[in-house]
Amino acid sequence: MRKNIVAGNWKMNKNLQEGVELAKELNEALKNKTVNCDVVIGTPFIHLASVVNSVDTTRIGVAAQNCADKESGAYTGEVSAAMVASTGAKYVILGHSERRAYYHETPELLKEKVKLALANGLTPIFCIGEVLEEREANKHFEVVKSQVEESLFELSPEDFSKIVLAYEPVWAIGTGKTATADQAQEIHAFIRKTLAEKYGQEIADNTSILYGGSANAGNAKELFSNPDVDGGLIGGASLGVDKFMPIIEAF
Ligand code: G3P
Repeated sequence: MRKNIVAGNWKMNKNLQEGVELAKELNEALKNKTVNCDVVIGTPFIHLASVVNSVDTTRIGVAAQNCADKESGAYTGEVSAAMVASTGAKYVILGHSERRAYYHETPELLKEKVKLALANGLTPIFCIGEVLEEREANKHFEVVKSQVEESLFELSPEDFSKIVLAYEPVWAIGTGKTATADQAQEIHAFIRKTLAEKYGQEIADNTSILYGGSANAGNAKELFSNPDVDGGLIGGASLGVDKFMPIIEAF
């Protein structure tokens, strides 16, 4: 179901106490406030249960930033989708460019992660996006199209309709160099067209496609004003309520 969503991705920041404090501050800031989007916070694994128990989960959804590609077993250090779900988290960020780059996550591996996330009732926030060289070579359309096709297009229409997409141009992540609103709209519309060709216009029109990559209080309103931008996946600007709330209120 297409919704406006502003999701924070804390990445590997905040210890447990700091994370719970930030979650409580956001919870307080949202209390008695009407906002026009769903709010999600993506925390490190160790924070999930404590954050879920610290916020009004009817106002704030909690996301893991990853999950295992195996259901259970001898995989030291891994955290399964079932374990994530058992914390009360309802979302899981998958395919983030940092995991693709640093931890060599392949489309095949991500396909398995998506399946397990869905099987455990989690909503995947599935990340796609090109690197600078691909953008400069004008290959960004084919890159994001293949990322979606290779990891998601074996899903049934019913399962695909549970996916949230996040387009994150890698060259904009953490750089302060945001895609322009026109650039974001152009590729979001292309992504939606790609979905329509596979699953039909209704599912495509009902898929939330978020933008991520140096989104902040200064550019969120313009970014979110585009017809195919349904919100944001926010890194640095989600690490403080003073920076995150203006993005939430940009709708
Ligand atoms: O997942 C969101 C993240 O990659 C964007 O980071 O710091 O550019 O907002 P940032």
